[in-house]
Amino acid sequence: MNQGVRIRRLKKRQYKRRLLNIFIGIIVFLIFIMFNKINSLAYEKSYEQENDSKIVEGLMFGDEKENRIEDNQEDIIEDNQEVNYIQDSIVLANKTHTLSSDYIPKDLVVPNVSFSFKEDNPKKQMRREAAVDLENLFNGANDGGIKLYAVSGYRSYQRQKTIFDNKVRQVGKEKANKVVAYPGQSEHQTGLAMDVSSISVKCRLVESFGDTKEGIWLKENCYKYGFIIRYQKGKEDITGYSYEPWHIRYVGKEAANYINNKDITLEEYIMNN
Ligand code: DAL
Ligand code: ZN
Repeated sequence: MNQGVRIRRLKKRQYKRRLLNIFIGIIVFLIFIMFNKINSLAYEKSYEQENDSKIVEGLMFGDEKENRIEDNQEDIIEDNQEVNYIQDSIVLANKTHTLSSDYIPKDLVVPNVSFSFKEDNPKKQMRREAAVDLENLFNGANDGGIKLYAVSGYRSYQRQKTIFDNKVRQVGKEKANKVVAYPGQSEHQTGLAMDVSSISVKCRLVESFGDTKEGIWLKENCYKYGFIIRYQKGKEDITGYSYEPWHIRYVGKEAANYINNKDITLEEYIMNN
């Protein structure tokens, strides 16, 4: 074979190798792009879930991989009365009255009101009597030009545990328990509480909701429909929780009227009645 032919073959081989390298490069690049895309889709999904929780609870939650905050939980429920049987709307669920972990209200229904989210979710529910009066409250608000949104109602014991454990991971147990109830101690498990917000605060559960026209309307009018603002400003020592202008609790019209007139908490009402 002469020199010219050998050089041509060599060049051809080099050319093929270069083509192969380019091809492999393109494949690697495509795999890299696909991997990133999958990762970013997974991130978006987890962000949506996290964001949903943020809106629902008004709190920032971290990842939800493990919920193993079992240390010293006993001291939170120490000396508590366990509430097993719930008949009427004046049930007390607080830091000294704990619902049994298997308590699920029997008459949960979804009220016909506007929610801050679209999908089906147990948190849309309330006990039947409370749900009917929540509808009346929302209609009353509408008549007054006030648009309210329901954000979070019934929560199971397990759901409350997840929320509490996440908050503990973020800020520690003591701070967490000022804004989130220990599982079994949340009014949301009774099916008699609903968190309410407005577009003016992006349907978040934040203290500034109390200063909006919707928050002011809610505070001034909810008793007419059997609800009270459960965690009032200045009553933290009695309720055990920070001010929550969004959390309304159904107690029935008579009790709500009394509590509103006397400007007292549910704890004080129960103690004196
Ligand atoms: N944020 C109220 C106290 C609850 O967790 O039930
Ligand atoms: Zn609430």
